[in-house]
Amino acid sequence: KKVGVLISGSGTNLQSLIDATRDPSQHIGAEIVIVISNKPNVEGLKRAEKAGIKTVVVKHADYPNREEFDAAMTVELIAAEVEIVCLAGFMRILSNTFVNLWRGNLINVHPSLLPSFKGAHAHKDVLAAGVRVSGCTVHFVETDIDSGAIIEQAAVPVLPHDTVESLQERVKIAEHRIFPLALKYLATERIHLNDDNSITWNY
Ligand code: GRF
Repeated sequence: KKVGVLISGSGTNLQSLIDATRDPSQHIGAEIVIVISNKPNVEGLKRAEKAGIKTVVVKHADYPNREEFDAAMTVELIAAEVEIVCLAGFMRILSNTFVNLWRGNLINVHPSLLPSFKGAHAHKDVLAAGVRVSGCTVHFVETDIDSGAIIEQAAVPVLPHDTVESLQERVKIAEHRIFPLALKYLATERIHLNDDNSITWNY
């Protein structure tokens, strides 16, 4: 399956997807054909270029509203014949139109064990809550933020002297393992998102 990856930053998850999809022994069944960033000059774009993958910058500031920004991304994705869209540290909320268009083929990685700690400051909120276990989640994207059906999760310990940075670093190691795995489930049709937001597992 042809995959498009949307990023906004360092792209370490993108790197894990590039590496896994190019490793024949992992049988991911997917090939990344385009990387779109809403921010120019980010590290993730350099990773894609280095891997010889087409990159496009679609700057949200260039569009009058969210719908038109998303539509510009859809034009690029369709031109690249993308079938699956991965959000890998993409820090913009997507319009309902975009989410509904790609529904069932649109997945995101979130740095907490959902449904706990939704939102853009998960690690900070985890530390403030004092929980001893955190983790990460790969889920289908729904119009409600961080609420889609859960595909894969991994737990990670929270250590006594953790900072946002140290926790993020530990959680990212787990993200880099489960994001390619979740993509594999979708690309090889082991999972299917139903209309009622449940997942059918075919194996
Ligand atoms: C990850 O922690 C991801 O869960 C969150 O944003 C971060 C992106 O990191 N949504 P990277 O750009 O993949 O390094």
